[in-house]
Amino acid sequence: MQISKLKDHIGAEVTGIDLRQPISEADRQALYDALVDNVALVIRDQKFEAADFQTAAELFGEVMEDQNRMYLAPGVPMVSVLSNRHTDSKGKPAKLAKNASWHTDHTNQDLPPKITSLYAVELPDQGGGTAVCNMRAAYDALPADMRERITGMKTENTLISSARAATGNPDVVKARAALNGKLVVHPLVRTHPDSGSKAIWFHQNKTETVTGMDPVETQTFLTELLETAIRPEFSYLHEWCLGDMLLIDNRSAMHKAGFDFDYSQHRKLFRILVRGDRPV
Ligand SMILES: [Fe+2]
Repeated sequence: MQISKLKDHIGAEVTGIDLRQPISEADRQALYDALVDNVALVIRDQKFEAADFQTAAELFGEVMEDQNRMYLAPGVPMVSVLSNRHTDSKGKPAKLAKNASWHTDHTNQDLPPKITSLYAVELPDQGGGTAVCNMRAAYDALPADMRERITGMKTENTLISSARAATGNPDVVKARAALNGKLVVHPLVRTHPDSGSKAIWFHQNKTETVTGMDPVETQTFLTELLETAIRPEFSYLHEWCLGDMLLIDNRSAMHKAGFDFDYSQHRKLFRILVRGDRPV
């Protein structure tokens, strides 16, 4: 197994390992450490069915359910399917997301996933990459007064912020009702349990409020924070090859899906989430 860095601040690539086969504890630990150090880890040349992908993800922890239960891999319900060819319950083409924005997953839950992993099943000729930003580097590079201002701030999270558009997705409607007005509170700047480093961490669409702001001010503030914090040198655009397994350490990353491809072609990825601790 070889691990090599992709960029100074983010990304590493792994070759020479087949995760359908058992691996040594030393290799497992080396993969986990490479993920934590480099924030995004690409394991090349895998040949997974959905169940193999789950087995590989379990090397990194306990997998958890995706809260969107609409598009699951047949027979492997912990693996969800991202595709531009989904149909809704009536067989009509599902509404396609086309706006990519920086976020981390499932912040409306008390225990959001520590790792998001994706696996490429079918790809368009070009575009559709997944961007990941090292948010601890982004935090460290903020002007000192801004760092001071945001450290200690809390976000209140819901499935979709009231300042954002409503949705007809039945899972979303159900989950909103189940929340019953309850908001899940998280730190805006979280501390990595392994490294002790701090990172900016939020999902803008799920953030109802930031400490001391109303929902609309919150959206403006978070947009400005992203504009200041995200820099090309801290970001890695993963341009997919078939067989790639991408892992994102959500505790120090935000990511963005790529919708910049020809929608007459099929982009299909598997996604799996690894359970995390309560962010602090
Ligand atoms: Fe995501």
